[in-house]
Amino acid sequence: MTRILVTGATGGLGSQVVEFLLDRVPARDIVALARDPARLPSFAARGVEIRTGDYLDPASLERAFAGVDKLLLVSARAFTDAFTQHANVVEAAKRVGVRHLHYVSLQKAEGSTFEIPAVTQWERETEALLQASGLDVTILRNTMYFDTLPFGKSVTEAGIRVRAGRGRGAFASRRDLAEGAAAALCGDGHEGKRYTLGGSEAVDMADIAAAMSEAGGRAIDYREVPVAEFIEARIEEGFPEPVAEFAAAWFQAIAAGEFSEVTGDLERLIGRPPQSARDFYRASHRA
Ligand SMILES: NC(=O)c1ccc[n+]([C@@H]2O[C@H](COP(=O)([O-])OP(=O)(O)OC[C@H]3O[C@@H](n4cnc5c(N)ncnc54)[C@H](OP(=O)(O)O)[C@@H]3O)[C@@H](O)[C@H]2O)c1
Repeated sequence: MTRILVTGATGGLGSQVVEFLLDRVPARDIVALARDPARLPSFAARGVEIRTGDYLDPASLERAFAGVDKLLLVSARAFTDAFTQHANVVEAAKRVGVRHLHYVSLQKAEGSTFEIPAVTQWERETEALLQASGLDVTILRNTMYFDTLPFGKSVTEAGIRVRAGRGRGAFASRRDLAEGAAAALCGDGHEGKRYTLGGSEAVDMADIAAAMSEAGGRAIDYREVPVAEFIEARIEEGFPEPVAEFAAAWFQAIAAGEFSEVTGDLERLIGRPPQSARDFYRASHRA
């Protein structure tokens, strides 16, 4: 029996990874980690073991990881000391004898020096820490989610107003990325591998606007706006200024080509083409 632990199981990605694992392995082989285990009643009812742990509390992690063979580390949230949290997870995993750690990282262009503040640096440092950890390691560099694109509450009324140039991204749905992680966790031969998980085609903001228009039956256009205007609009919507600046940086990353590479890694892992922009927005419009 191989016991697989998923961190971030209360979150958007981790909860879907657990769902996909339930399709593939017996529930008794799955452990879900949460800061507040009471938030996972549906997994508990289906036989998943819920353990309590906080990335900031090394002792809780050691207790939670006991007897676990494979672990998925869902990256900590931005605007926190993510590197320390990840290092705590790696250290606890080593101490209790977890064999294989999968880490959810972020897609970036090969050789790029583009920095998304509060993200890129700790992704790089965590990957380096893992490579030196002596554990079996699989790095899952996820693309940006369709689910968080485009940013802004008023897209359906005002159109897509961001500064992303004609930058293209091999974006994917969070659900497909979760399925990819579950497939890697259940599969063999992924030790020492680094996958860049994304869609089977790269699209730009005009393509996203066209997909959204088609899904909603109402024209949504893409027009570039200065970064300052984008930030101002988000502040007016109620976002704190640092969050608005953070969101702007992601679109600058798109413009810089950070997410443009199509690797086919996700398609190979899940055995089918990931949802396209058109399919994703059509499905989410119906939902
Ligand atoms: N590629 C992209 O487009 C993209 C977009 C957004 C985020 N991300 C990154 O990918 C990660 C997963 O995405 P997501 O959509 O699942 O995010 P999410 O819904 O915010 O989930 C984050 C998960 O991490 C857990 N967590 C946070 N701090 C923790 C701590 N100190 N100890 C233990 N668990 C902790 C949260 O637990 P609680 O429920 O207890 O808070 C939650 O389960 C994010 O954390 C972020 O780093 C990527």
